[in-house]
Amino acid sequence: MQPDTITHAAPHGALADHGRRPRLIALASGKGGVGKTWLTLTLAQALSERRHKLLVFDADFGLANADIQLGHLPGFDLGAVLRDETPLQDSIVPIEQGGFDLIAGQSGSGALAGVTATQVDGLLARLSEITASYDVILFDLGTGINPTTRHLAALMDTVILVTTEDPASLTDAYAVLKLLKRDRTERDLLTDVRIVVNQTRSEQAGKRAHAALARAARGFLRLDPPLLGTIGRDERVAEAIRGQRLLLSQFPKSAAAASVAAIARRLMAR
Ligand SMILES: Nc1ncnc2c1ncn2[C@@H]1O[C@H](COP(=O)(O)OP(=O)(O)OP(=O)(O)O)[C@@H](O)[C@H]1O
Ligand SMILES: [Mg+2]
Repeated sequence: MQPDTITHAAPHGALADHGRRPRLIALASGKGGVGKTWLTLTLAQALSERRHKLLVFDADFGLANADIQLGHLPGFDLGAVLRDETPLQDSIVPIEQGGFDLIAGQSGSGALAGVTATQVDGLLARLSEITASYDVILFDLGTGINPTTRHLAALMDTVILVTTEDPASLTDAYAVLKLLKRDRTERDLLTDVRIVVNQTRSEQAGKRAHAALARAARGFLRLDPPLLGTIGRDERVAEAIRGQRLLLSQFPKSAAAASVAAIARRLMAR
């Protein structure tokens, strides 16, 4: 058996394929604080600039996320949507500075962790009814591998695994890779997972971190996750977040902005 490589014709994930359907891409990480939420929003902006129609789904209902970085957003009550009391449609918020749309959970409305796999399937089915006009749905999955996050990750077309070069972050990223590979194999699906090393000291260091992770994945998981890109530690990132501005609007010429633009290009080249 060959290791999984990038799957050009990967079997589809969760949404029924009625002709055109958006590509489902999730950002995941083993460790917290690596930059998933920031990268989700910045990548959404970069993809929008490339004329893709984007919906961001903030699937991390634990703590404040997108609304910390964008300013107060009207969040949706996950419970009410799951009970069919509120249409999901009503929770789509246009983010003008980014050129994309967003569905954000209410901060502290209860972690997705309490939601069952069947409820996640129902949520995705409802999402598919209202999202045919989008090219991509980007999910900010939240940290770690609780059962719900894991279920959602296994239904994606592509998972972007975000890590730093810190050994603890790499170890936790490997644990996510392992479960994802297992879940996809169980469903007879190939695993399209790509690595982003964020907050690197240098591009070299980022590449070395990816090489170590990929070596372990090849050796133990028969998986060969490609490097989608490295992003250096850039103080403009935190500065933009403090002002609740998106990086590509505030600091379009920053190094981190260029790195995210390159990641957006590679991601859509498949
Ligand atoms: N490339 C970078 N350069 C400098 N700082 C960064 C970079 N990427 C992320 N950060 C910083 O890391 C912090 C955490 O980012 P973010 O909230 O996106 O992480 P997260 O992975 O979503 O965390 P959580 O696990 O809590 O959801 C941000 O406030 C930001 O200041
Ligand atoms: Mg986050």
